[in-house]
Amino acid sequence: MAGPPCAELHLHIEGTLEPELIFDLAERNGISLPYSDLDELRARYEFTDLQSFLDLYYRNMDVLRTEADFADMTRAYLRRAAAAGVRHSEIMMDPQAHLARGVALETCVNGVASALADSESEFGISTGLIAAFLRDRPAEEALEVLEQLLDMEAPIIGIGLDSAEVGHPPSGFVDLYERARAAGLRRIAHAGEEGPPGYITEALDLLGAERIDHGIRCMEDDALVQRLAAEQVPLTVCPLSNVRLRAVDTLKDHPLPAMLARGLNVCVNSDDPAYFGGYVDENFAQLGRTFTFTADDLARLAVNSVRSAFIGAERRSALL
Ligand code: ADE
Ligand code: ZN
Repeated sequence: MAGPPCAELHLHIEGTLEPELIFDLAERNGISLPYSDLDELRARYEFTDLQSFLDLYYRNMDVLRTEADFADMTRAYLRRAAAAGVRHSEIMMDPQAHLARGVALETCVNGVASALADSESEFGISTGLIAAFLRDRPAEEALEVLEQLLDMEAPIIGIGLDSAEVGHPPSGFVDLYERARAAGLRRIAHAGEEGPPGYITEALDLLGAERIDHGIRCMEDDALVQRLAAEQVPLTVCPLSNVRLRAVDTLKDHPLPAMLARGLNVCVNSDDPAYFGGYVDENFAQLGRTFTFTADDLARLAVNSVRSAFIGAERRSALL
């Protein structure tokens, strides 16, 4: 089952860094990697939980040093996403992860933005850039970085909250989200990936999150499911990610069919496709081999992605 034309709403650009590109950029930048070849690197892609993945994800992004590196990574994603059927993509980047290793904000923002600027003409994909903040770093630092992004008039449409979830509840980031709201930015947050259902409620009620990234643990709280369904809160679900990070045991155990059956506004996304075994089309292909979705279910997943995107009426109707 190929992926239907859709919007991708949950994608970390640093998570699209494929092993081949890691080696190419290391060579270009004169960096010696702690792996002798691609097989040795790929052997590390066995994760036990979110943190075991994040350790490798942050280490590998050290090869990104120049604007050209960020632009090349972004262009490679857009090319692959177009082949997967993606027509609109809202792309998170992690500015603090680059600042922490001495890469200037301008370098990462301008590099990604330069590739996005040509995306519609080159790949037929409209895009939006979202600055994601690391919840396992101090909230004051996040606020400072947001101010810098606003000062430099970075072309971002919104903010997100990602990285290690458990022990880092949304409640710590109220000031950040209030500043983003005042600046006219859209707001999303990871919640209920590894963290408890209460983090989803906090993200909605304390941060004003307009979409929840993952959200799968809502299924443990019936009242929350009823609320999310009634309010049609978008949940950007990432099935292959959840399997690879052991949020679920196997794809068969994934709650996506149950979420659809409960009337939740769910859509399918790839999260960090270079790490989790595939882009949106592969997520749909594996879902199709595992579950029996009706044509109606598949259409709903695609329509949900488009109606949950931060786009104007004209682009939305062109995509529907
Ligand atoms: N950063 C990149 N991928 C992530 C994920 N799946 N959860 C939280 N933070 C992330
Ligand atoms: Zn994510």
